[in-house]
Amino acid sequence: MQDSPGRRGLPRHAADERRVGALIRDMTLEEKIGQLTQVQGGEGAIPDWLHDSVAGGRTGSVLNEVDVGIANELQRIARQESRLGIPLLIARDVIHGFRTVFPIPLAQAASWNPEGVEEAARVAATEAAAAGINWIFAPMLDITRDPRWGRIAECLGEDPCLASALGAAMVRGLQDGAPNPRRRVAACAKHLAGYGAAEAGRDYAAASIPEGELRDVYLPPFRAAIEAGVASVMTSFSDLNGVPATANPFLLRQVLREEWEFDGVVVSDWNAITELAVHGLTEGDRQSAREAINAGVDIEMASGAYAGHLPDLLRSGEVSEAHIDEAVANVLRLKQRLGLFEDAFTPPGGVPTSTAEEHRRVARRSALESAVLLKNEGEVLPLRADTLRSVAVIGYLADDPYEQLGTWIFDGDPDLSVTLLEALRERLEPAVVVDYARGMETTRSRGRKYVDEAVAAARRSDVVLLVVGEESILSGEGHCRADIGLPGSQAELVAEVAATGRPLVLLVMAGRPLALGDVAERADAILYLWHPGTMGGAAVADLLTGVESPSGKLPVSFPRMTGQIPIYYSRRNTGRPATAGMPVPVEEIPPRAPQTSVGNRSFHLDAGDTPLWPFGYGLSYARFEYGDLRLAPDTISAGDALEVSANVTNAGEVEAVEVVQLYVRDLVASVTRPVRELKDFRRVRLAPGETRRVGFRLAGAQLAFHGLDMRPVIEPGRFRVWIGGSSAADLGAEFELTA
Ligand code: BGC
Repeated sequence: MQDSPGRRGLPRHAADERRVGALIRDMTLEEKIGQLTQVQGGEGAIPDWLHDSVAGGRTGSVLNEVDVGIANELQRIARQESRLGIPLLIARDVIHGFRTVFPIPLAQAASWNPEGVEEAARVAATEAAAAGINWIFAPMLDITRDPRWGRIAECLGEDPCLASALGAAMVRGLQDGAPNPRRRVAACAKHLAGYGAAEAGRDYAAASIPEGELRDVYLPPFRAAIEAGVASVMTSFSDLNGVPATANPFLLRQVLREEWEFDGVVVSDWNAITELAVHGLTEGDRQSAREAINAGVDIEMASGAYAGHLPDLLRSGEVSEAHIDEAVANVLRLKQRLGLFEDAFTPPGGVPTSTAEEHRRVARRSALESAVLLKNEGEVLPLRADTLRSVAVIGYLADDPYEQLGTWIFDGDPDLSVTLLEALRERLEPAVVVDYARGMETTRSRGRKYVDEAVAAARRSDVVLLVVGEESILSGEGHCRADIGLPGSQAELVAEVAATGRPLVLLVMAGRPLALGDVAERADAILYLWHPGTMGGAAVADLLTGVESPSGKLPVSFPRMTGQIPIYYSRRNTGRPATAGMPVPVEEIPPRAPQTSVGNRSFHLDAGDTPLWPFGYGLSYARFEYGDLRLAPDTISAGDALEVSANVTNAGEVEAVEVVQLYVRDLVASVTRPVRELKDFRRVRLAPGETRRVGFRLAGAQLAFHGLDMRPVIEPGRFRVWIGGSSAADLGAEFELTA
């Protein structure tokens, strides 16, 4: 047998395939099922049951073990005490960093910087691999359009083009970056599929997604991850159109294996196989094991339905040996690809301290690029260090080394954090007085206990930096909110501080877009920090003091109020779109107004039809102007490409980065198309006064969508393109796609 390029992504080597085949021929059924079983580690110890299970070949994979000594001992047991010496997969959720914590994934998405995201993932994988981990459960590629969903923090935003580019970058960083081939790591694209469309943004709730939308919006990031070579895929907990993803042959066999030719590992989510019964799909574990393995789930995470029932299901003929062997082959192939048969051990030294500074540099750059400037009236920012005498820093999130790290930071070390208060003090004192007031007990607390002190600090200062938002625990898995306004009495705190009349800068730390509504109006400037990670304080201090200009752009639309959800830029148009000027302020509608007097158009009387800030939006200390859009040619066929370009000018006074975005609308199609779709983007750094022509190659293939027959189609007709600094860009032109 020759080496072959593999069906998709990673190469298949003939010798590896021979070894996999030979091992499978030699394996007992119990050993095969062992390879399909992942157990929770002993958390810093190896209890007898775990030792026996690994030595007996009944466990092929361990989750949540992060002590390198224990990891090595587990590998030794697997290699030396088990009959076939098959090494272990040792898995962990490394969602946005290991010891060094990067901004939450949603924040990283605001950087629109694939290279930066890749670099952060590489650091995360390097640190995790030093602890003996060889399988990382990231990236999370669930598209969501619902900021109530707590896991929006973990995802890469609302748009498939952005999430695909950044997700593929994460895969490359996690898998390809480890400097030492003995420390290779497998990534895991999760959660296939539709998890982010949970009803009402309530975690684990069912998702109903028409197949065309599933294929056009929710699946592309997974496809991109597979093309980037992702080694594994995790199923979603949730029910997709009536069939939970973990037992969904359409997703796992038809799309993933047949259409995409994926030959990596499919792992269930935690207990998701046994939960099939709770969904109401199966009677219990026996049937759940049958449905999951037949649908194509290779490894069962945490629960024991495979171990308990596959032998009997095989005997009864409800599960075929071929299905089991195929799953085992997928697992063994992954172990081969990771080089584990050659060397499963990790040097015991942990992460070399020499790399710590470099890792912090990456975290700082990542936080710097993730912050989004949403408002800057009167150019309050950057702070003018030459004339400034005093700053009030209000809000306990300004000085909490833990909360700035965000959700999913099992291994993150708050002792490494640089808080905003620390960084500002270091930067500004003694020339500027930095006056700190806690402002609130927690973001959720009510009452005025800390308010007077905060107002007094504001009064004493030239400018107020008020840090509001959410603690880490208010987002992440299982942490959804029905009202995404500022929690507790923070809105009142903002109002009282604003009433002092001092220039007010709101710094928002949160795991999701918050509906800031009226609060936003009270502030002169708003810098959205998300949860910025270990180096958040240092990076934000750089931005506040103008060392660097903000360059982040929103990866999700920000609603004015919760009731607008879902609100996202790439909606379909309706026959009655709102027109400019709507709505009439609701309080001005006269009593007994005629039924049609406010227009019978698609908007909310109390919120209009636009978000507070659209997808792609973000300000800078510079000002960018767009002009002279050109298309060459202006007619193409499906197999061609055209060049779309525009002049981008930095009309400001400082050097800054702009994220130039390309949007398209297919004006007439057999299935109505979104009013805009992002097709490409590029970060460009421009000096003051500099103009650069930024061009994108737009291929006919990028205009494909899934037609009513669920096949990709590129339909001839007119298209409109826009280039600009957000999804509301107005510089556009039309072109024609011919048959
Ligand atoms: C999450 C997954 C995660 C797994 C293992 C589950 O609760 O949904 O994203 O990888 O736990 O920790």
